[in-house]
Amino acid sequence: MTPIIELAVAAWNQSCPAAMQQRAIDALEAGGVLFFPGLGFPLEAAEARFFTPAIAAKSKNISLDAAGGRIHGSSLDGAAAAGLAAMMQRYAEYSRGLLLKLLPRYETGLIPGRTSFRPVEIKGRPTSWRKDDTRLHVDSFPSSPVQGKRILRVFSNVNPRGQSRRWRLGGSFESVAGRYAASLPKPLWGSSWLLRMSGVTKSRRSAYDHYMLQLHDRMKADATYQSNGEQMTYDFPAGSSWIVFTDRVPHAATVGQYALEQTFYLPVNSMQDESKSPLRILERLMARNLV
Ligand code: SIN
Ligand code: FE
Repeated sequence: MTPIIELAVAAWNQSCPAAMQQRAIDALEAGGVLFFPGLGFPLEAAEARFFTPAIAAKSKNISLDAAGGRIHGSSLDGAAAAGLAAMMQRYAEYSRGLLLKLLPRYETGLIPGRTSFRPVEIKGRPTSWRKDDTRLHVDSFPSSPVQGKRILRVFSNVNPRGQSRRWRLGGSFESVAGRYAASLPKPLWGSSWLLRMSGVTKSRRSAYDHYMLQLHDRMKADATYQSNGEQMTYDFPAGSSWIVFTDRVPHAATVGQYALEQTFYLPVNSMQDESKSPLRILERLMARNLV
């Protein structure tokens, strides 16, 4: 079972005692979820207008690039769009602040990624199986190769009506990787170059990225694993936040509306113990280098 480690942090810029820092990094790298039941993201009164699914255009999420600037995926424009961007930018800064206080070891390696706001109810949301995040999966994105870097995400349930965000959490990465590793097809010769040149990927899709995408798809497509694989459900209450390496912890979000999420990338050599990264675990299983 995925360990959920409750931490008593009440403010995003609160300094964390050394013992808490150690507990947090040990648990996080071992595949646990750091859970902050008392850490809500403070909203401003004028931001209440963003709490409607109507602000999402076609996609389920609204995103803000790490460089800031304009939001994507929203039907808002002008001052309203700028107001939403400001709320998301503030979340990006708060998330980074929390990580620096709780996981100072990561400071030099941490690469900020996208911020996202998720205003659409998950349950019943139409989507293709590959994009269906109600199915257990580990994160891997077709257009954004990571070349082995970790995907670290900070979530906050900002539901104004007190609705929890329900997740399913799967068993260990080792067990999932072991289930599929031997049967994952090898990358086709030249495919990484072709994907890059044709603009499908933003950087080179390494063998690691190839296998993680395969793993993501195989997990989502496997109905037996989805229903019978080791798993538990967990409700993250409104006004709580949590941190997880989503490239390692099998997860799915099944019910809930209104969350903020900040993505960070972390090179494996910034970890306390890189042998616990999906990169090194897959390399051990496949007995070859993957980046
Ligand atoms: C996911 O990362 O699969 C979705 C998580 C969420 O939106 O709560
Ligand atoms: Fe995910």
